Amino acid sequence: MRIPRSVREADVAGKVVLVRADLNVPLENGAVADDTRIRASLPTLRLLLENGADEIHVCSHLGRPNGVDEAFRMAPVEERLRELFPDDRIRVLENTRFDRGETRNDDGFARELANGCDLYVDDAFGSAHRAHSSTEAIAHILPAYAGLLLEEELRSLGKLLGDVERPFVLVSGGAKVDDKLGVLRHLGGKADTVLIGGKMAEQLRAENPLDFAAVLPTDVVGAAAFEADADSAVYAVDDLPHGWLGLDIGPETRALFSRHLAAARTIFWNGPMGVFEWPRFAEGTKAVAEAVAGNADAFTVVGGADSVRALNELGLADKISWVSTGGGASLELLEGKELPGVAVIPSA
Ligand code: 3PG
Repeated sequence: MRIPRSVREADVAGKVVLVRADLNVPLENGAVADDTRIRASLPTLRLLLENGADEIHVCSHLGRPNGVDEAFRMAPVEERLRELFPDDRIRVLENTRFDRGETRNDDGFARELANGCDLYVDDAFGSAHRAHSSTEAIAHILPAYAGLLLEEELRSLGKLLGDVERPFVLVSGGAKVDDKLGVLRHLGGKADTVLIGGKMAEQLRAENPLDFAAVLPTDVVGAAAFEADADSAVYAVDDLPHGWLGLDIGPETRALFSRHLAAARTIFWNGPMGVFEWPRFAEGTKAVAEAVAGNADAFTVVGGADSVRALNELGLADKISWVSTGGGASLELLEGKELPGVAVIPSA
């Protein structure tokens, strides 16, 4: 894994620094619902100020607005950032996606962002798979460096692509099956065991496009309808009544997955085992979260918004070796792809 040159090496004294962070956080009723990404951006800001930067311009996208959209203004994000790190030398710019040039990787918009700045620090790992003005074009205009979070993400996720301690267990679930097939293809053959839950398991049972055998659920928590309080019962996978839906892995599968996870020395987990937002279908995801967090001897990496949310809700995030702030970016990296936002930063 190539680690681009670090912000630690940059001479920032007396300079104005443009920092691209990924502050694309969930909002609820106009307020920040989860500030993980904001907190994760603070060490780089702190380092820049400690090293004498005069001023920092922080920019990020928020949501997927189509031009200027009141619902996606950066104000609530800025407010939370200021609560966590009050410092007048930090300026938060408006949502980069309010400018249509951003997603076109437009050079003109990159020049606007660069205006008045001396150098660029990319700390937006979660957006590094996007070739946008604030992640790619900008690095051709200002001297570019990797922020501390970006570096740490590359190092931690990169370990999974190198020589890993074995057994290496990959556990994957969730509804976005196609998004994850690339990672399964790239890492699955290297893993000693691949555990699959969620909707992905159903798809693989119907037709396995992978060239290795995955461990699939033997039992499921079935529901008569896709509703939080639908009739539900545990069934062996082949006995699920016609028309019923498997909304979680069953107790036998939970025990099986937990045994594999307890014996692992390296674990990558992405995606819940069922509809964990509904308590009756949350046990599978909870069991996996507990088994991953409970294995103190393993190097454990968790990525993807839902798995990370489950860990946070269970208060287990600090028991994981590395919790990635990237969704799509971590998947693309683990598929073996070069991320445009990383490729554009020179080596040390
Ligand atoms: C994410 O949340 O995965 C990143 O912030 C990227 O957002 P995007 O998928 O809208 O580009």
